[in-house]
Amino acid sequence: MKALIYEGPGRRSWTDVPVPRPAEATDAILRVDAVTICGTDLHILKGDVPAVRPGTILGHEAVGTVTETGAAVTAVKPGDRVLVSCISACGRCRYCRTGAYGQCLGGGGWILGHRINGTQAEYVRVPFADTSTHVLPGGVSDEAALMLADILPTAYEVGVLNGRVRPGDTVVIVGAGPIGLAAITTAQLFTPAHIVVVDLAPARLEAAKRLGADVTVGAGDDPAAAVGDLTGGLGADVAIEAVGVPETFELCTRLVRPGGHVANVGVHGRPATLHLEDLWIRNLTITTGLVDTFSTPDLLEMVAAGRLDPTGFITHRFTLDDMPAAYDAFAGAAATGALKVVLSRS
Ligand SMILES: NC(=O)c1ccc[n+]([C@@H]2O[C@H](COP(=O)([O-])OP(=O)(O)OC[C@H]3O[C@@H](n4cnc5c(N)ncnc54)[C@H](O)[C@@H]3O)[C@@H](O)[C@H]2O)c1
Ligand SMILES: [Zn+2]
Ligand SMILES: [Zn+2]
Repeated sequence: MKALIYEGPGRRSWTDVPVPRPAEATDAILRVDAVTICGTDLHILKGDVPAVRPGTILGHEAVGTVTETGAAVTAVKPGDRVLVSCISACGRCRYCRTGAYGQCLGGGGWILGHRINGTQAEYVRVPFADTSTHVLPGGVSDEAALMLADILPTAYEVGVLNGRVRPGDTVVIVGAGPIGLAAITTAQLFTPAHIVVVDLAPARLEAAKRLGADVTVGAGDDPAAAVGDLTGGLGADVAIEAVGVPETFELCTRLVRPGGHVANVGVHGRPATLHLEDLWIRNLTITTGLVDTFSTPDLLEMVAAGRLDPTGFITHRFTLDDMPAAYDAFAGAAATGALKVVLSRS
């Protein structure tokens, strides 16, 4: 089968490798029907995630059909169409028992396309298949489900739920990549009064408008003034950081009102300054988090019921064997306008 292999910093290949077989009784093998590329895959390719060893198949998002199961798998069977979550769960450790699957101590967590071979291939081995896949209802398309593998639960859990978005809130989202845009969509579930989106890229701000931002703030505009205008100078109830650089985290702490919430979603590679000399008196709540994907069943229910349409994030479609072209389009987002690319089995 063909697979997208990380060959070391700056190098990838779309190469023939053996089809995986179950290695543990709890494994399932899936034929990959639809797969996408995450910004994290680009970070890995730059060499920013040294835990990924050269030779690893990338990818942590997919929809596929079960072809084979280990002896202990009971929740899925060959022929089932399933969503593969970016987070795997042993289902038994103390974190999994409380739905904090991202912190799994039993061999799960973010492992696909990180510590073990991932989904950007014709077939993938999924560990802990019973607790790491979701059988898809007939009415949910592969493409819609695929958006629930990572970006929707991340934005919803780490951004909107951690940030405690409530009806009538003013929510500011800093960063309008796929995660920030998914935060717009999932914040809307709580009918905030205003959603303000801050980004430097005009194309991303256009996408934010299309997906429901009320106000967009670009490079050279003043985000504090935009939020102040909407809130009588008070500040936002919730600020969601969806970039991952010190400046945007610090901006979020300045944009919220006293008593407000800052929900950090961005993955940071450098320290940010916590200005306690200004913040101590303002009763802020600051949260961080890795996605757990505990919300995936709820999100699937909303998609199946037509309450949530996550296909608006998809800008480019390819067949699976166009993987190198899909990577080029995704990595060149500034020129191509790519948000999420979908690769489907032809
Ligand atoms: N916490 C988690 O579990 C989790 C999961 C997935 C992704 N992430 C992280 O979420 C973040 C967003 O992911 P993404 O895929 O949307 O990334 P992305 O790179 O596609 O989007 C980031 C956006 O931020 C904008 N930006 C950059 N610098 C800015 C600045 N100074 N001010 C305003 N906007 C700026 C860019 O123009 C871009 O549109 C990343 O850091 C990613 O690693 C976290
Ligand atoms: Zn991802
Ligand atoms: Zn666990």
